[in-house]
Amino acid sequence: MKILITGHKGMLGTELMHFLSQEHEVSGIDLEEADITDRAQIMEAVAIRTPQLVIHTAAYTDVDGCEQHPDLAYQVNAIGTQNVALACARIDAAMVYISTDFVFNGRKKQPYIEFDAPDPQSVYARSKLAGEIFVRSLLRKGFIVRTSWLFGRHGKNFVETILRLAGERNELSIVNDQIGSPTFAGDLVPEMARLIATEAYGIYHLSNNGACSWFDYARKILELAHVENVRVVPISTEALGRPAVRPAYSVLRNYCMELTIGDRMRSWEEGLAAYLALGR
Ligand SMILES: NC(=O)c1ccc[n+]([C@@H]2O[C@H](COP(=O)([O-])OP(=O)(O)OC[C@H]3O[C@@H](n4cnc5c(N)ncnc54)[C@H](OP(=O)(O)O)[C@@H]3O)[C@@H](O)[C@H]2O)c1
Repeated sequence: MKILITGHKGMLGTELMHFLSQEHEVSGIDLEEADITDRAQIMEAVAIRTPQLVIHTAAYTDVDGCEQHPDLAYQVNAIGTQNVALACARIDAAMVYISTDFVFNGRKKQPYIEFDAPDPQSVYARSKLAGEIFVRSLLRKGFIVRTSWLFGRHGKNFVETILRLAGERNELSIVNDQIGSPTFAGDLVPEMARLIATEAYGIYHLSNNGACSWFDYARKILELAHVENVRVVPISTEALGRPAVRPAYSVLRNYCMELTIGDRMRSWEEGLAAYLALGR
């Protein structure tokens, strides 16, 4: 298949480029090549590459930054996605849009399935949900893949932050009242490849299995990396005082995968161990 990836220099985009290039003809665009907020530019960039499928990972992903710059958040995540969808519609290409666990309000006590109603609580989450709505309304051949708490080889992520801070301090204060599913980009990408081959368009949750708080996650990182003598102290979200509201519970269940081609995502602990085994 001829595939175009937006945001190919980002964490997920880079992983997708590497993996999908083994079997497909893959090209990428990022901010330097085409700004997704510029409709004419993105229309042209997509049209000249004639992809059969566009995987749209480009986004304004700084959750607190979105709260402070809502116009930019809606411009990139909502209108930018509308532009990519329009570009796909014009050449009859299919599209995969990457969305987030943050579309849910976090008040549920069990993992969210695709049939639960979104109720976003921050500008980032509202802008990402707006992107979903554009994809659903503009395209017949659209996948929406919601994932969560991504970490991978090609970008800033929580794992690297914890390991860096552990080298600088002997005590780390980490939030213990937000629960989610850390997801290894290296595990997500092969599952996306299985999904796009089905042409069964719709919304899919794709996260590593299991759940933890950021505090549990930090402790597991240090344990698996054999870092000793660093104490991890649990703190509340309120004590951290970040600008954007995060859902208290945003665990995703890969329910539509379970119901169709099967959920092959392993646990987040296994994904984390595999990532750390890659070395750095
Ligand atoms: N990271 C997570 O925990 C997480 C969780 C759930 C869902 N997601 C979603 O997964 C997707 C990929 O996330 P990621 O962590 O790989 O993101 P990322 O590393 O921040 O990459 C996003 C890419 O998009 C580019 N970009 C930003 N604004 C653009 C614009 N106006 N035009 C074109 N390109 C633009 C960025 O360029 P610059 O770097 O130059 O700005 C960057 O290369 C996003 O849609 C995100 O919302 C992420």
